[in-house]
Amino acid sequence: MTAEVRRAAQILRAGGLVAFPTETVYGLGADAASEKAVARLYAVKGRPADHPVIIHFASPDQAFTWARQIPQGARELGQRFWPGPLTLILKRSAFAKDFVTGGQDTVGLRVPSHPVAQELLKAFSGAIAAPSANRFGRVSPTTAAHVREDLGKDVELVLEGGPSDVGIESTIVDLSGGAAVLLRPGAVSREQLEAIIPLTNGKSFVRHSGGLERHYAPRTPARLVPTHTLDKEIAALKDRVAVLAFSRPDERVDFWLRMPREPQPYAQRLYAALRELDSANCEQILVEAPPDTAEWAAVRDRLKRACS
Ligand code: TXA
Ligand code: MG
Repeated sequence: MTAEVRRAAQILRAGGLVAFPTETVYGLGADAASEKAVARLYAVKGRPADHPVIIHFASPDQAFTWARQIPQGARELGQRFWPGPLTLILKRSAFAKDFVTGGQDTVGLRVPSHPVAQELLKAFSGAIAAPSANRFGRVSPTTAAHVREDLGKDVELVLEGGPSDVGIESTIVDLSGGAAVLLRPGAVSREQLEAIIPLTNGKSFVRHSGGLERHYAPRTPARLVPTHTLDKEIAALKDRVAVLAFSRPDERVDFWLRMPREPQPYAQRLYAALRELDSANCEQILVEAPPDTAEWAAVRDRLKRACS
């Protein structure tokens, strides 16, 4: 274990905040059992107190101690996808206090796979409450530099772990109400989940900020444009525009970022790309819509929110 990780665990024990890498996005961590630490986390994040936060653990066994009812399907999902980019919503145990659940009777549990996250969780040995390490409503960070840009001196330590592999937030499945409901699509796909447990399309009644319409958004107004109208849109523009597209740059456009044609590498680059487009100081961002297929579901979800 590195000295840096030991120091991070000490900061958490003292009620401080540590940003750390996960395979999805960087998290802003606090001791999930400390009301004072979590209050500080919410203040720095600028998140309303009635929004719940995901709790991170080193192992599935530890994670399940924070739930009082563990359906067989939850165990199977944990076994198959943990450690990894999946969050399970279950009925909470007495460990999960109102200040991490937003006052709800459920708790969000995750076992991340990133080696630095794993080291930190083992060194701290408790549960770490961690939303994405950005201010409320902004694009999630996928590098340590993004975290420093957003949070600056408000966080005691930012652990370095390179760019996040997955690049978008974990898949969230709500199992607290009997049937399993997909709350947020992610790298663990609907198809992968359905190979283990049937999903219902029923509405979940838990509140979750990822469900807010405008979330994960750049400051510059962004618009999703179908491939077949992109050219026409560009020709009609008078404003300075930044474009995120699959094809080669167009010389009429001030700032152009070309994206991979495969969903996984696209997701990995997405948030860094939105930050770059935002800092190009254009009046508008145009985003070429990805294909309307199952494998692009998670990326399309984030793009829709960024463009609403
Ligand atoms: O990939 C991720 O999940 C990242 C990394 C850091 O682990 N974390 C993350 O956390 O995205 P956050 O807090 O930005 O988003 C968590 C989502 C929110 O929509 C939150 O409301 C929901 O999970 N959530 C957490 N606990 C919940 C609960 N008890 N019931 C319903 N939704 C919950
Ligand atoms: Mg977030």
